[in-house]
Amino acid sequence: MCYKVLRKCLFMLPPEVAHTVALKALKIIPLFSKKQTAGMPVEVMGISFPNCLGLAAGLDKNAEYVDALSALGFGFVEVGTVTPKPQNGNPKPRLFRLPEKNAIINRMGFNGCGLDVFIDNLKKIQSDVIVGVNIGKNLTTPIEKALDDYLTCLVRVYPYAHYITVNLSSPNTPGLRELQHGHYLDNLLQGLKAKQAELDLEYNQYVPLVVKVSPDLTEKEVSEIAEILLENKIDGLIVGNTSLSRVGVTELAYGAEAGGLSGQPILPQATQVQSYFVNALGGAIPIIGLGGIMSGEDAQAKLEAGAKLVQVYTGFVYQGPELIADILAGTAQHNTVQ
Ligand SMILES: Cc1cc2nc3c(=O)[nH]c(=O)nc-3n(C[C@H](O)[C@H](O)[C@H](O)COP(=O)(O)O)c2cc1C
Repeated sequence: MCYKVLRKCLFMLPPEVAHTVALKALKIIPLFSKKQTAGMPVEVMGISFPNCLGLAAGLDKNAEYVDALSALGFGFVEVGTVTPKPQNGNPKPRLFRLPEKNAIINRMGFNGCGLDVFIDNLKKIQSDVIVGVNIGKNLTTPIEKALDDYLTCLVRVYPYAHYITVNLSSPNTPGLRELQHGHYLDNLLQGLKAKQAELDLEYNQYVPLVVKVSPDLTEKEVSEIAEILLENKIDGLIVGNTSLSRVGVTELAYGAEAGGLSGQPILPQATQVQSYFVNALGGAIPIIGLGGIMSGEDAQAKLEAGAKLVQVYTGFVYQGPELIADILAGTAQHNTVQ
């Protein structure tokens, strides 16, 4: 009820301003800082998650709000995407609400503070929440040199992350999605896994590597990608990022804006691609289900379709902390040690 009132005010502001105001408010409004404790622990990738629900990457791009977000009850918070150097992202406006369909279109383009400030922010985190760090490449780095950017990020964030997500699927960095395929993917993952092994020895701490893919993949593409993920012994998979589809939104005011679509309209497609991966991977790599979750029932359906954990972004923007309570209540019985 409270969030509904707040949302009305926030939605009167331009989307990007509302985003910043809401995150800053999280830090100071005690109502939102009340620790939620529902949910059942679950073990995935060797990590003990207090519950199966995480916040997806992109909301806290610079790792500034982890303590406040963790206080809301998320079992894990994924921060980033961080790129080696700071960058502005695309010109504004670049974020559009489609409230009729509980959806968002964004073309932010990895706006962020870069690794130096990001690491300082990670060092300031006080809560013991599980933190995933989502890494990417700078816009000006050619696709052929992408591995350099990912390695730079991996090395710097490694000591501060519980897991690290290799984002290969944002539609707003030209060419990035090519890294999901064939020799690009294989080279990238080989390089990252070799560095992970070195860092494991250096820190005496194994930090799992997770790959985040698009929900726009065909079944054939999924089987090819799955083979490469298995060969490279990737630790986890997130399905998926925003979509280039415009299913159900073409008639809406901002439905034709360029960028990635997220929220309710992408739920069936994202869960379908998740199912392709469940079949192709045969349980060998745990999957984090993401895309279109707007209720506890939706989250439950992702888990029943084979995800071990779930994440939300757009649903949280539309429904606020009530969505967390709804999901944690609905998924409490489902979780078992994996
Ligand atoms: C405004 C916005 C910014 C995002 N930025 C990132 C990002 O930096 N890195 C990333 O991996 N995903 C990013 N995402 C994608 C989300 O993490 C998620 O994959 C996608 O929104 C689908 O989930 P949802 O339907 O629950 O929103 C962003 C999404 C939105 C709406």
